[in-house]
Amino acid sequence: MSNKIHSSEITPESVYLNRRQIIKASGLIAGSALAPSTANAGFFGLFEDEPDVPEQAVYQPKPLNISKKVPNNLNEALTPESKVTTHNNFYEFGTNKGDPAHYAKAFNPEPWTIQVDGEVAKPQTFDMESLLKQHAIEERIYRLRCVEAWSMVIPWLGFSLADLLKRVEPTSKAKYVAFQTLYDPERMPGQASRGFGGGIPFPYVEGLTIAEAMHPLTLLSVGLYGKTLPAQNGAPIRLVVPWKYGFKSIKSIVKITLTEKEPPTTWQVLAPNEYGFYANVNPYVDHPRWSQASERRISDAFRAERIDTLMFNGYGDEVAHLYKGMDLRKFY
Ligand code: MTE
Repeated sequence: MSNKIHSSEITPESVYLNRRQIIKASGLIAGSALAPSTANAGFFGLFEDEPDVPEQAVYQPKPLNISKKVPNNLNEALTPESKVTTHNNFYEFGTNKGDPAHYAKAFNPEPWTIQVDGEVAKPQTFDMESLLKQHAIEERIYRLRCVEAWSMVIPWLGFSLADLLKRVEPTSKAKYVAFQTLYDPERMPGQASRGFGGGIPFPYVEGLTIAEAMHPLTLLSVGLYGKTLPAQNGAPIRLVVPWKYGFKSIKSIVKITLTEKEPPTTWQVLAPNEYGFYANVNPYVDHPRWSQASERRISDAFRAERIDTLMFNGYGDEVAHLYKGMDLRKFY
């Protein structure tokens, strides 16, 4: 694994290790998986069964027809594609930043369907091929700010989640939207091994309020850098909510359910004192174990530049009204 990018090169090691310690503290990594293994080169030797991967990728991203390029007002350099696709969080394919690019090589996201149900008048299952024809694909350049205090600027391709939700006609009882990632341990090695997958509960689940889900900035992404999504970035369809910490942007979605009650979300279930349901980017509320005041902007530079973190990741003008009357110091 000499070509792997070690998280410690990018994220301060203390932060990275701490996030792992939470998982350990919650008792979610099986004792046996923590036993050091000399038989393979897994993450710090923590897991025993390193998955097999083919030399060649099974699936290659394809060019997408882009209907509209939303002007980039950010005035910030794009994160190089080579970084966007090799520095990932996708625990279904391992916990190290370089793992998803390596272990998702065997993951073919075609064919794919996405079921939309719950508090809707017209529940439907959509297939990806049709979705790509039915929805005009826009390019939107958004910042992505991970809760681990690193960030990128990514040219996403996709369409507003609202456009899909309108097609199923939400009822008046729909107050929240729950999302679910594919559960397929045979194709997602992190789901098959508690050590390799960090011991988080699978399938990965996330949620938004209906107002957040219907907000025009909330994107269902089907691609980046002009092509369909690489497997490691959440192929074939993922959420991108630019004003929230990256863990809200759930990958490889198979199910969307509109609900009356707030749905459980993976990181909140795992560590409710550290990860909230709202998880809006907020430089004034530190993570209990590290500061959120600044972030490392990932680039080709040997040392990533440290920049100030912006309230709502810089999207406050568009989204602050959603949280009127809420105590911004509390909803981490
Ligand atoms: N979705 C799933 N299913 N599994 C994951 O582990 N990680 C989240 C989010 N979506 C994750 C996920 C986190 S913590 C981040 S920061 C972003 O994906 C990272 O997206 P990227 O790898 O495309 O940069």
